[in-house]
Amino acid sequence: MFDAIEARPPDPILGLSAAFKKDTNPSKIDLGVGVYKDEAGNCPVMKAVKTAERRKCDEEDSKAYIAQAGPESFIKHTLDLVLGNAHPVIRDGRTSCVLAPGGSGSLRLAAEFINSAAPGSKIFVSNPSWPNHVPLLSSSGLTLEEYPYYDYAKHSLDFDAMMGSLKTAKKGDLVLLHGCCHNPCGADLSAAQWEEVTELALKNGFTPFIDMAYQGLGDGLDEDAYGARLMAEKLPELIIANSYSKNFGLYRDRVGAVTIITSNSEVAKAVGSQVVATARQIYSVPPAHGAYLVAMILDDAELTKEWNDELTEMRDRINGLRRDLVSKLKAIGVSQDFSYIQNEKGLFSFLGLPKDKVEKLVKEYSIYLVGSSRINVAGINKKNIDYLADSISKVL
Ligand code: LMR
Repeated sequence: MFDAIEARPPDPILGLSAAFKKDTNPSKIDLGVGVYKDEAGNCPVMKAVKTAERRKCDEEDSKAYIAQAGPESFIKHTLDLVLGNAHPVIRDGRTSCVLAPGGSGSLRLAAEFINSAAPGSKIFVSNPSWPNHVPLLSSSGLTLEEYPYYDYAKHSLDFDAMMGSLKTAKKGDLVLLHGCCHNPCGADLSAAQWEEVTELALKNGFTPFIDMAYQGLGDGLDEDAYGARLMAEKLPELIIANSYSKNFGLYRDRVGAVTIITSNSEVAKAVGSQVVATARQIYSVPPAHGAYLVAMILDDAELTKEWNDELTEMRDRINGLRRDLVSKLKAIGVSQDFSYIQNEKGLFSFLGLPKDKVEKLVKEYSIYLVGSSRINVAGINKKNIDYLADSISKVL
C-alpha cells in the first residue's frame, strides 16, 4: 500500500526551523516561522498564560470531553474580543461561534462546513497569501481563485487591481480577507478600503471570510478588528476564523474559533449545529486546555490587564524593530528604499529580494527567511540587527 509513496520536501515555512536548528553558524538569524520572539530570541509563554495555567492545573478535576462548541465562557469572550462586546450581531443572537484547533483548524472547519452546505463553492484568495491557505482550503473541496493584492514594484497594496478582480465575485462566492497584519506582506486595508470592500460585498452578494490570526499585533485589539466589525455590522453573512496562537502565544495548544454571522438568530442556531457536526466527523470534540486559559484570562480583570500590557509591549517592539531596520539599512548606505517596511503591520514584510538573493542570505549568511523574501520582523533584535543589515547590503 505504501511502497509507491514518495517523500515530500520539508514545508516551505515550518521546514525553516529545523534547518535553522541544525545550522552551526553563531551569527545565524531565524526570520522564518511566524512566532513572536522577544529580545533574547525566545518565543515566551506570556505571564498571564503561566498564571492561568497554574490555576487551571490546581482547579481541574476532570478530563472528560468538553461541550462540542467549546466552553461557554470561551465563546462569549471570543465574540467580545473579535466583534467588540456591544456589537449588535451579538445582541441579536446572529452569531454562532465554535472552538477549533488553532487558526488553521478554524479555517479548515469553516471550509469543510461551507463545502458540505454548498459543495465546490468558489473562494477568492489574495495573491500573495499565507502559502498554506491554498492547500488548506482547496483540500476541503472549495474551488480557489486568486485576486491580485500586492504590487511588488511599489511595495504596497494594489487596491485597484484587488477591487477589479473582486467585482467578479458574486452571491454564493467567498472572499478570503486577512483581518489585519497581512501574511506574508504586512500591507493592510485602510478603514476606507474596508468600507469599499464591504460596499462591494453588499452590492454583489459575496460572503467575506476573514482570517484573523494576528489581532492585537498591528495597531491594537480594537483597531485590528475594524474591518471584521464593520462587515459584521453591514453584511447579512460573514465568516471569521480567529487564532489565539499569536496574541496569547498559545501556538502549540491549538486554540482558535470559527464565528459565523447569519441573517437571523434561527439560522445562527442551525449553522452552529452543523459546524459542530462537521467537527464531529473530523476530530470529534475540540482540545480544551488552551481555550480554558483564554477564557480564564479574559474573565479576570487583573489577568486581562497583564495579558494586554504584554501584548502591547510585543506590538510596540515589532513596530520599533520595523523602524530600526529601515534606519539601519539607510545608515549603512543601502540605496534601495525599504521605508515601506516601517508602514506595514504585524510580524511580516517582504524584503523585496529576488529568489537568488534570498537563497544567498540563507546559504551564505545563515539568515533564514521564506523563499518569497518574507521576514518575521520579531526575529530581529539588538544583537543581530547589524549583521542582518550588513548581510542584506552585501547580497544587494
Ligand atoms: C507563518 O506563516 O509562519 C505561521 O502562520 C506559521 C505557519 O503555520 O505557517
